[in-house]
Amino acid sequence: MKLVVPKESISSEKRVAISPENISAFEKLGYEVWIESGAGDLANFPDNLYVQSGARIADDKTELWLKADLLLKINPPSNDEVGLIKEGATLISFAYPARNEELLQLLGKRQINWMAMDCIPRISRAQSMDALSSMANVAGYRAVVEASHEFGRFFTGQITAAGKVPPAKILVIGAGVAGLAAIGAARNMGAIVRAFDTRPAVQEEVQSLGGDFLMLDFEEDGAGSGGYAKVMSKEFIEAEMKLFAEQAEEVDIIITTAMIPGKKSPVLITKEMVRSMKPGSVIVDLAAEGGGNCELTEKGRSKVEHGVTILGYTDLPSRLPAQSSRLYGNNLVKLVNLLGTTDQFAINQEDEIIRGALVLDNGNISWPPPKVEVSVQPVKPIEESIKEPVEEKKSIFSPGLMLGGLCILLLAMGWKGENEFLDQLTVFVLSCFVGYMVVWNVTPSLHTPLMSVTNAISGIIVIGGMLFVSGSNPWIAGVAIFLATINIAGGFLVTHRMLKMFRKE
Ligand code: NAI
Repeated sequence: MKLVVPKESISSEKRVAISPENISAFEKLGYEVWIESGAGDLANFPDNLYVQSGARIADDKTELWLKADLLLKINPPSNDEVGLIKEGATLISFAYPARNEELLQLLGKRQINWMAMDCIPRISRAQSMDALSSMANVAGYRAVVEASHEFGRFFTGQITAAGKVPPAKILVIGAGVAGLAAIGAARNMGAIVRAFDTRPAVQEEVQSLGGDFLMLDFEEDGAGSGGYAKVMSKEFIEAEMKLFAEQAEEVDIIITTAMIPGKKSPVLITKEMVRSMKPGSVIVDLAAEGGGNCELTEKGRSKVEHGVTILGYTDLPSRLPAQSSRLYGNNLVKLVNLLGTTDQFAINQEDEIIRGALVLDNGNISWPPPKVEVSVQPVKPIEESIKEPVEEKKSIFSPGLMLGGLCILLLAMGWKGENEFLDQLTVFVLSCFVGYMVVWNVTPSLHTPLMSVTNAISGIIVIGGMLFVSGSNPWIAGVAIFLATINIAGGFLVTHRMLKMFRKE
């Protein structure tokens, strides 16, 4: 069977459906892999890399399409390309069937099977094939890169010789795949990140990435079916918009990713909120494709309103083409694996992943598929491990034996020793004990625990010095007090400076 990867025909598209690394996986399944010449050029995968990995290159597009038994693409085919698909072939690409009804009809006439990468159900078993998630992950990261490009400052706070730079404050609305990727990227760049989502369940994920989760005093959970969010009540949207209005005045960047599949994106950032933002602020609206979360977003465009840059790009994954192509290619490998080797190739509709993705079954429209409920992870029973009784190793130096030995030694010294020696020994033992307790019980509140301990030791030296300063060697005591004081003051000074470096506004 021939597996064909054509060049994407949309002019702004830089991605390619598979990377050279994926070729061997398809060959193992028995496919002869054909790539259209130049298909990977914009993703930095020139033809020779595909050839080295075992693929064949074809220059003639028409000839190439007609030989495809399995056609792998990213975007749905254009109307012109429909006629190039061999009857009975299988096409795997994004399909967006809800808005591509005409294309479904057209392709249906060619009796093909069409599997939509955007219709793969969001269930645990399908995670490795979930191209929407892999692309959203890239988009979330790229949104931060785009925002930093437009923003006139560092993200991280700094204290430099030339002055203090406050850290950028970023609000991420919607902590799904794209939102979490954006939170992670922005935190790594040193920004203060706050996030809000209608599903309180994501709070822990936000916090584990270093973001602050904003809470709303409103009882409504946004978790819906199929792994997606549900449409929220009007009252909830009003309450969250009030929160966003307060945040808009404070933050420098807003990244919005709020959406419910198949629905128009909710407008959460109004004109007034944009106006209240500081000049130089940036809004990246990832939901631009579905109408946008910001009232002023223009799909696919960048614009400046009231001094705020609003980015409505819809091609964010294509702006990181090598990364996106690799991830998409890996998703395809996993999905094609489900179809079996070429000698046993079958579109098994018993499999919920295949059924979910299949939008054309031998030319017949098979979308929407029956509903698949997201598999709730079973709660793992806590395994009570039966512990083998561990036999304690007995050492000949048991504490009791050592204490006994010490007592005998002290008794012998008390019996025979000289009085002066015994006095000094008693003071020495007691001071060791008191010193140990004082030093190790100090609560470490300086920059490092070691610093706290050395400061405590210096404190004891100062007390000792003060006791001896009126004795026979006042100079030695004076020097000891002086040096120990430098250490104590230095410890506090260094700690203060270190804290200042990390302190965010
Ligand atoms: P997702 O479904 O994983 O995340 C969306 C999140 O928004 C969910 O956590 C949901 O609970 C939340 N949400 C829904 N309504 C909300 C509301 N009213 N307030 C606050 N949070 C709300 O989706 P994913 O995969 O993260 O994608 C996010 C968006 O990014 C989508 O609109 C997608 O189309 C878009 N996207 C854009 C790209 C681009 O180039 N611009 C590329 C890839 C994805």
